[in-house]
Amino acid sequence: MAKTKVMIIFGTRPEAIKMAPVVKAFKGRAGLFDTVVCVSGQHRQMLDQVLSLFNINPDIDLDLMQENQSLDSLTAAAVKVLTQAIAKVKPQLILVQGDTTTAMAAALAGFYQKVPVGHVEAGLRTDDKYQPFPEEINRRMISVLATYHFAPTRIAAASLAKERVGKENIFLTGNTVIDALYMIAKRHKKVNFNFKIGVRSKLLLVTAHRRENFGSPLTGICSAIRRIVERYKDVEVVYPVHLNPNVRGPVYKMLSGIPRVHLTHPVEYHELTFLLKKAYLVLTDSGGIQEEAPAFGKPVLVMREKTERPEGITAGVARLVGTDTERIVREVGLLLRDSVRYRRMSKAVNPYGDGRAARRIVKAIIENAHRSPG
Ligand code: UD1
Repeated sequence: MAKTKVMIIFGTRPEAIKMAPVVKAFKGRAGLFDTVVCVSGQHRQMLDQVLSLFNINPDIDLDLMQENQSLDSLTAAAVKVLTQAIAKVKPQLILVQGDTTTAMAAALAGFYQKVPVGHVEAGLRTDDKYQPFPEEINRRMISVLATYHFAPTRIAAASLAKERVGKENIFLTGNTVIDALYMIAKRHKKVNFNFKIGVRSKLLLVTAHRRENFGSPLTGICSAIRRIVERYKDVEVVYPVHLNPNVRGPVYKMLSGIPRVHLTHPVEYHELTFLLKKAYLVLTDSGGIQEEAPAFGKPVLVMREKTERPEGITAGVARLVGTDTERIVREVGLLLRDSVRYRRMSKAVNPYGDGRAARRIVKAIIENAHRSPG
């Protein structure tokens, strides 16, 4: 039987982390699949970190990233070069992940070439087109373009069904981020930081990079961090700062040189999981960290107005706190002072997956690829 040619396309750090288990799972079935890995290079340094950690050598690297790229120029370039790459590879199936510009452009390019697209992490919604921006619209567009929809949770699967995606094309798989976490946990790779955390300190892990938080929300977050370390002397903050200049500029300006605030380059993925394990509490606007922190039993305060990941909130391990300085300081203070409240939020739960998502995706493709694509 001829092998099915699968083209796996991604471009940013979070997609690489969540696609790594999928790449491994398809490559593990080399008798059935010819797997072609194509990276857009929407991120350069941050993508390369993950590729080397998971030992993935892309077959195609489109090297798209420009300094301070705009959404329109990135999208236009990505659609063009991805269409050319797909025309050359001639895959029978394309896989994209999540809601980045690369994922949306790849799904559109696949559609232009009439190649069926499978969407990993399908069905996440806030139902607010500007939150997160532009990701909510990216993922909705992918849902319209895709044939196979791999939903991480029941809520995500239900959102797709509500949008009239055929039930036979929705597969409940869990989120591949948990597969990636398990893969990394087995490695015991050394961590290497240029700062030390006091043994008695409470570690606050902070990340913030969302476009809708650029400007005053981000400065609100930085002010909150300054006040927190001023008020609570046993707190140390570690903030791996995203390479986006709109993030780096204000964060370094407001937080450099503040005692007990450690600003670092984006840390490697195994270092991030190390920090998650050590953290007392996590403050973030990231999507992936909302999924990872509960697996380590760490409370998460989500610095956004809305989340497409309500599962953590329902499980009682995450809270939406927005970006207002006073609110963040108050919510962090409650968790630092109230041990009962802290313990209630420190349950280790995995509402997002069980580490077998990539295998389920491969299985779904094996069982369904013979159907004529919708
Ligand atoms: C992108 C995704 C977002 C995801 C995030 C994770 C879109 C629209 N957004 O946002 O969903 O959560 O990645 O990181 O796709 N840069 C570097 N080196 C790197 C990476 C980025 O210098 O390795 C700088 C560049 O100046 C680049 C800028 O960051 O222009 C922004 O990168 P971009 O991919 O446009 O958006 P992100 O904010 O990273």
